[in-house]
Amino acid sequence: MKILVIGVGMYVTGRGTNTFGTIFPSIIEFQRINKIKKLEVIFAGHNFSNIQKSKKKVLKALKISKIDFSKINFKVSFYPNKKNKKQTYKDILKNEKNLSCAIVAVPDHLHYQVINECLDHDLHTLAVKPFTIKTSDARKLIEKKNKKKIFGLVEFHKRFDKHNLLLKNNYDSKRLGAPLSFNVEYSQKKIVPEELFRSWAYKTNIFQYLGVHYVDLVYFVTRATPVRILAIGQKNWLRKKGINTYDSIQCIIEWKTKSNIKFTQTLSVNWIDPNNSTAMSTQKIKFLGTKGNFESDQKARGIKIVSDDTHVEEPNPDFNMAFQEGNRTEWRGYGIQAITQFLSGVRKIKNKDFIKSNYYNKSKEDEFFKYFNFSSTSFEEAAISTAVLEAANKSLKNNSNWQKINL
Ligand SMILES: NC(=O)c1ccc[n+]([C@@H]2O[C@H](COP(=O)([O-])OP(=O)(O)OC[C@H]3O[C@@H](n4cnc5c(N)ncnc54)[C@H](O)[C@@H]3O)[C@@H](O)[C@H]2O)c1
Repeated sequence: MKILVIGVGMYVTGRGTNTFGTIFPSIIEFQRINKIKKLEVIFAGHNFSNIQKSKKKVLKALKISKIDFSKINFKVSFYPNKKNKKQTYKDILKNEKNLSCAIVAVPDHLHYQVINECLDHDLHTLAVKPFTIKTSDARKLIEKKNKKKIFGLVEFHKRFDKHNLLLKNNYDSKRLGAPLSFNVEYSQKKIVPEELFRSWAYKTNIFQYLGVHYVDLVYFVTRATPVRILAIGQKNWLRKKGINTYDSIQCIIEWKTKSNIKFTQTLSVNWIDPNNSTAMSTQKIKFLGTKGNFESDQKARGIKIVSDDTHVEEPNPDFNMAFQEGNRTEWRGYGIQAITQFLSGVRKIKNKDFIKSNYYNKSKEDEFFKYFNFSSTSFEEAAISTAVLEAANKSLKNNSNWQKINL
């Protein structure tokens, strides 16, 4: 199996943080379970000095994982390299034979372009969120993917969080009655736009980078249709730091269920939490129904750590955490699960029996999903949150008026 990873930043390797990211640790965990005889991961960045930093992280993660390399062949390679400092993912797509799939983790505004090129090369593709910024781009990708019988997923990992599964189970059971509202608060530390994403923070906004997660989640829980949105934002602290993007955005989304019940979702998102905050992400969701409510504090997960050397920390052991198991490090959590589910799907699709099966011949992605019983977000489903963020951006530009959501 040969995996091309495009983008080698924080989410892939933990570059810029004291972690190892989420995408590469997920590949390690996938291999720990599957023990594929030959696994190769090709990392494509776009800057030689950055790729060197990422390479160090990758090699260290492999070392501490304590996978037994005498039994399996786990190869990693990095581009651009010393020989060819100008080489990009485009060259790899063109020249590399037998790629099994691609994982796209580049800045938000580049998703469409890079996913599109992966599909042009017939690669099963997992993209990080947001899928695309424009609905018209999402539609083009869906059409191409279906025509080429490609497996496409968007990595909305909150669908795998136990807190959210419990919310879905309670919603589905109807014990909380008909939906009235979902209230979401979601924020991250200042360090994210100010340092980690400084080079591209001004090209995105906090609703499309972060808020979009909980739009996908409300769709996942309710299977309702978003109808209209109003968004309002404030530019203050970041603008003073020379980054022209919103500090915070608030939205109201109106949704309609299949049985025509209207409910609202409010979102209050920001990325200027103090760097002393007890966790990178502060996140809460409250559901109000006609017969009851469900509240989930997704930051305070019951653990607090304080020492002479650090501020109080509230780690989230459920998302993606490195645990020591004897002398080896293992990564576990819903972030890991979302990526390994894609890799397992690719492995099954590449299986000769599957290619001969009716499911494959029918070719629709829906059939892949039925076959694998997947809960991940398909391109088709991800286009829904893209339509919401496109309408939110229109509202922000038009004096915060209501915008119809065009699916
Ligand atoms: N960091 C997280 O926790 C997280 C979680 C989920 C999803 N995401 C998403 O993952 C994506 C990347 O985030 P990140 O945290 O890794 O960001 P990052 O800034 O740390 O890394 C981005 C990487 O993209 C690549 N890149 C930049 N410009 C490029 C270009 N023109 N062509 C090709 N490659 C280019 C570079 O290799 C760079 O390392 C974003 O869309 C983000 O929304 C991040």
